[in-house]
Amino acid sequence: MKLLVTGGAGFIGSHTVVELLEAGHQVVIADSLVNSDVEVLNRIESITGQKPKFHKVDLCDEAATHRIFDGNQIEAVIHFAGLKAVGESVEQPLRYYQNNLGSTINLLRAMKKHQIYKLVFSSSATVYGDSQASPIKESEPANRATNPYGWTKVMIEQMLFDEAASGAPWQIAILRYFNPIGAHPSGFIGEDPQGTPNNLMPYVAQVAVGIRKELAIFGDDYDTVDGTGVRDYIHVTDLAKGHIVAISNLPNPGQAQAYNLGTGQGVSVLDLVKAFEQASKKSINYKIANRRAGDVAELFADVSKAKQDLGWSAQKSLLEACQDSWNWQSKNPKGY
Ligand code: UFG
Repeated sequence: MKLLVTGGAGFIGSHTVVELLEAGHQVVIADSLVNSDVEVLNRIESITGQKPKFHKVDLCDEAATHRIFDGNQIEAVIHFAGLKAVGESVEQPLRYYQNNLGSTINLLRAMKKHQIYKLVFSSSATVYGDSQASPIKESEPANRATNPYGWTKVMIEQMLFDEAASGAPWQIAILRYFNPIGAHPSGFIGEDPQGTPNNLMPYVAQVAVGIRKELAIFGDDYDTVDGTGVRDYIHVTDLAKGHIVAISNLPNPGQAQAYNLGTGQGVSVLDLVKAFEQASKKSINYKIANRRAGDVAELFADVSKAKQDLGWSAQKSLLEACQDSWNWQSKNPKGY
């Protein structure tokens, strides 16, 4: 199949492009490079022997978005592009709404104009907000975001469900990611946050490699196994493979379906730090700090729907994910 991958130079996007190419698909990447590096394309070529066609495009530019489709025989789209920093979204809500919603509307219009109705959308477990229901099922309320970034995911999901019900023959898979970690085992591609990492794994990896002094663990008084926050950390290549099966098993025309992509296992911050120490053979300095505003105690997936409908489940262990994160970080201490 010939696919357009928006945000294909980003962390999850680049790993998905590798899996798509290795599964025999053709890929066109559209990325603004606002939060990613063009070097990713060379790295994808080093892994797969193929350099995907690349358009440097901001999807907020409607005319440019339409042009991507004019020159390429696109059959389906995987839409990753979007701003994703929770804290930044609290400070710049309008930028987040304008960018994430505007770009998606432009993309959907261009797809309709070209009669392309197969879509996989990059959503997030953030749509479950502060739900207490872990392991959480897709049928739980998914309109409970706790920050503007999360609300953009809720709103885009709503647009997609509304479009699917509008009579147009959309076939849409909405993938709700839990916490992606790890990197391609080659060490050529991985997570490359700009500035201070917001997320736990890149922060831990930067402490291990000596870029940061110590990790602040945000709270040890939650009602969890050891008091620290519990999440569902999934290896990014497992997550990437979820997109390959989703695109080959889309719902029937006129339907949108949401799937959790996680491991189904809850892992505490301290568990992750211990696993990373084992993988890297480095000791991670940490201190206990105050809780971070907006964090929930525990969030992990019920993964039975993806298993049943898509035949997909995560395969890699937490230790493998830590080994691959460390391999990437130690080979690319400053990122790309
Ligand atoms: N944490 C720390 N110290 C840090 C960073 C994180 O202790 O420096 C803790 C958090 O408190 C939390 C856990 O590590 O308990 C995971 O935090 P992350 O920031 O890595 O991930 P979140 O679960 O908060 O958020 C992630 C994505 C969001 C997405 C959300 C969905 O970053 O984009 O999952 O649940 F919306």
